[in-house]
Amino acid sequence: MTRFDPTDLRNRIEKLGDLPTLPHVVQRIAAMIGRPNVSTEEIGSIIEKDQVLAAKVLRLANSPFYGFPSRIGSVSHAVIVLGFNVVKGLTLCASALSIMKDAGMDQLWRHSLGVAITANLLAIRLEIKNPEELFVSGLLHDIGKVVLYVKWPDVGNCIKDEFTTGSARSLLDVEQELTGLSHADIGGSLADAWHLPITLREPILYHHNPPLAKEAVLQTAIVHVADILVKGLACGNPGDDLIPPLSKPAWELVGLDEQGLVECIDKASSEFTTIDDYL
Ligand SMILES: [Fe+2]
Ligand SMILES: [Fe+2]
Repeated sequence: MTRFDPTDLRNRIEKLGDLPTLPHVVQRIAAMIGRPNVSTEEIGSIIEKDQVLAAKVLRLANSPFYGFPSRIGSVSHAVIVLGFNVVKGLTLCASALSIMKDAGMDQLWRHSLGVAITANLLAIRLEIKNPEELFVSGLLHDIGKVVLYVKWPDVGNCIKDEFTTGSARSLLDVEQELTGLSHADIGGSLADAWHLPITLREPILYHHNPPLAKEAVLQTAIVHVADILVKGLACGNPGDDLIPPLSKPAWELVGLDEQGLVECIDKASSEFTTIDDYL
């Protein structure tokens, strides 16, 4: 069984110039947001220069999940309505979709979109300030898998081979065993490298171990619970169909009673039917 050195893998993350277009675009956006007097039009125009990306951002921004009554016609309008961090996240999501599709990872995208929808529903229910942000962290929570299984086929194929030998271990267990890292760790490093806010970074990094979150505690709990619900509802397939253990503290924070759970599952399931429009 091949094992990989975690430090070597972390070094690889730093050199991830090959995660298409998104680091460059997002870094430019991040730099602009740090500047005083930057206008939303300026930020919009950076994204709009990449027309394929802009079209995808707008498609997501106009998706029924956000439920805005009027159409969002430009990226700068999306920035005003959704906020910088969400648009930044959407640029990542749009690019991640391309990679997943190119790599034939439609099932991972379906799963991720399912988690985005469910996390957003839970956030609205809990009256969280920026529920759209939960949509983005749901969409990105397994982003580390794109790196692990598409960008690093040498590592990913070893993990898959070991996993398919038929033990009861989850894909996550095999990742940790062979690399000392998981897709969640890699996602967290990517979130760092892309200067994502902690409200996106912690849910990505800790979605399999929510008690480790320090600041975005509720957001991380929501993504964790949404991930498990979506696996239970068999929406998409993130690589294995084992349902990971539910964190009791996270479940209590989300605070769904039986009726709340039924309502949430009903709503999420009906929204899942629109997922194919985005594939
Ligand atoms: Fe995961
Ligand atoms: Fe997941």
